[in-house]
Amino acid sequence: MRKKVALLGSTGSVGRNACKVLAFHRDKFEVKSLSANVNYKMLFHQAAALGAKNAVVVHDTFFEHACAEKPSDLKLSKGVQGMIDCACDPEIDIVICSILGNGALDVVLNALKCGKTVALASKEVMLMAGKLVMDTAKKYGGSIIPVDSEHSAIFQCLQSHDEKAVKSLVLTCSGGPFRTFSAEQIGKVTLEDALNHPVWSMGRKITVDSASLMNKALEVVEAAYLFGVEEKNIQVVVHPEGIVHSLVEFKDNSLVGLFSKPTMELPIQYALSYPEVLESEAERLDLTALGALHFEKVNPFFPSIEFARHALLCGKNMPLVMNAANDVAVKKFCDGKIAFTEIWNIIEKTMAKTALCELESIEDVRQADAEARIMAENI
Ligand SMILES: NC(=O)c1ccc[n+]([C@@H]2O[C@H](COP(=O)([O-])OP(=O)(O)OC[C@H]3O[C@@H](n4cnc5c(N)ncnc54)[C@H](OP(=O)(O)O)[C@@H]3O)[C@@H](O)[C@H]2O)c1
Repeated sequence: MRKKVALLGSTGSVGRNACKVLAFHRDKFEVKSLSANVNYKMLFHQAAALGAKNAVVVHDTFFEHACAEKPSDLKLSKGVQGMIDCACDPEIDIVICSILGNGALDVVLNALKCGKTVALASKEVMLMAGKLVMDTAKKYGGSIIPVDSEHSAIFQCLQSHDEKAVKSLVLTCSGGPFRTFSAEQIGKVTLEDALNHPVWSMGRKITVDSASLMNKALEVVEAAYLFGVEEKNIQVVVHPEGIVHSLVEFKDNSLVGLFSKPTMELPIQYALSYPEVLESEAERLDLTALGALHFEKVNPFFPSIEFARHALLCGKNMPLVMNAANDVAVKKFCDGKIAFTEIWNIIEKTMAKTALCELESIEDVRQADAEARIMAENI
């Protein structure tokens, strides 16, 4: 029996990689639904190629355009509710969530309430409501399989030994394009410099986050919630070659790591096929051709990982505040309104000025997120 898949955010960087995996394994997976925010032309093309019969266009105006042009055999729905309906369709076995924006949280919480397995790429979900999401999964019997390459690596390494034997998680980090820069050099970088990632080809927001190491900060928080590990037991190590995707340290001081060529297709495929391992189109890794792999400390001029540690130690709304402030700041940087290093100033000040509060419901999350964004805007 083929697993039935809803792929939400199919037109993005992760979504397009997921389409490749699903097309390669047609015998294993049946794609039922896809979604985009605005790019309905690509969405229609993907639906035809993968045989999906349901599609969602989230943006109101583009939904109207899409309705006028849609193929006759495609059922089209609108907005976040359209995505929730696809995710909660009783036929669906696995929901891939690679949506950008706050709608991802509604989709994931609803899917988990229906007991679904969610292959999760969207980082904002764990940042905004890590505890609420994990509690919801537990309460309703849903599960989350990470798609982010580092968390997928950790998830796979954890299969090797008993959970009780884990000492620490080691997240690897390419270091981004400014890995070796001095404070003075970092002060002068441009948007073009920040978008030039040395290892991964990704969407714009995550590429800027990789350059500031805020992506790694978000991943530290994600890892803490996903794997139930304390901040002090999460290490970050710079590994410029991007071959070791992360590791787990066990209590006997041995390390288990996941090695492969950098491609998002592998973590997406593993999330889909888990616990099975399938053939893939990924290039084989020739260790002798690699020669040497390097591991370094994080450049001390980057405060991002310390923000994540502080956010986790505070708990409550602080990871959300860090994420919201970063979102606001990155948008301003991409719009040419602030310098690169101002991203960090905005995050630091927003976190310092926000009072701690509990997030017990999605309404609490929405309100705290809106307040943090206003605070960051004002700063
Ligand atoms: N890229 C990577 O390699 C990578 C790796 C790990 C984790 N992630 C995480 O995965 C998520 C997606 O990243 P990405 O790089 O694939 O982003 P992306 O290329 O910008 O794609 C985002 C997807 O979400 C859709 N979308 C945008 N705004 C939306 C909204 N308001 N409501 C609903 N859908 C919306 C987009 O549709 P349109 O195409 O119509 O705009 C597109 O399908 C992010 O959380 C990112 O941090 C990415």
